[in-house]
Amino acid sequence: MRLVLLGPPGAGKGTQAELMSREFGIPKISTGDILREAVRNETDLGIRAKGYMDKGELVPDELILDLIEERISSGDAEEGFLLDGFPRTVAQAEGLEKMLEARGVFLDSVVSLDVSDATVVDRLSQRYVCGSCGRVYNLVSQAPAEQGACDDCGGRLEQRTDDEPETVVERLRVYDEQTQPLRGFYQSRSLLSSVDGNGSTEEVYARIRKAIGEESRP
Ligand code: AP5
Repeated sequence: MRLVLLGPPGAGKGTQAELMSREFGIPKISTGDILREAVRNETDLGIRAKGYMDKGELVPDELILDLIEERISSGDAEEGFLLDGFPRTVAQAEGLEKMLEARGVFLDSVVSLDVSDATVVDRLSQRYVCGSCGRVYNLVSQAPAEQGACDDCGGRLEQRTDDEPETVVERLRVYDEQTQPLRGFYQSRSLLSSVDGNGSTEEVYARIRKAIGEESRP
């Protein structure tokens, strides 16, 4: 399965991709996660990306396309992958199409998670991420057992710097301007399914499975 998860910041792309990755045994490829790791490790990519990320702007297409080309060439992505947060511009979508064509493979589906701006602001203000293993929590919907500590590794939970309310507003603006056009791009290729991203994680997951024709799987 080769699938793209589209949707505004905080729509639940990472949460759903994590569940799908476990169930279907294919890697979740999140450009946001790859970039944050590069920033933490102060690599060339991280140093170039940080300024854009802190402001809620998109990192230039050529940097993103290079990192995706390298990542989808890894052995674990041969049988499929879930793209979370990529593509985000029409140029990225066209770049992906060329990369896949060159390998003789194609996307199976693009799922767009639809949530209101108010839900986004609400979810992101409550999001905490483990500084050690990256597990994502939400103080309202997915709270850790012990306040401030990761259930899996005991790491310290922190808020993402780009979850500050002013940066969230900018990320939403950038999404509307640069990423929304991808809906038309994928609709014209008969790949797009729109899924209601409101409701519990389990409800949204069941809707995604139905949209991609996997609802009868045990
Ligand atoms: P990125 O990390 O991709 O951020 P994003 O797309 O803005 O998405 P988020 O990670 O904020 O949200 P999500 O939809 O994954 O939601 P989550 O599951 O965590 O990108 C960050 C930055 O990197 C960008 O701004 C840009 O600078 C750069 N970048 C990345 N990719 C790029 C690209 N391709 N091109 C250029 N630049 C790029 O859920 C959010 C919260 O809600 C969590 O707390 C979760 O627990 C909770 N939650 C999830 N589902 C539910 C539910 N159903 N009910 C209640 N709570 C829920």
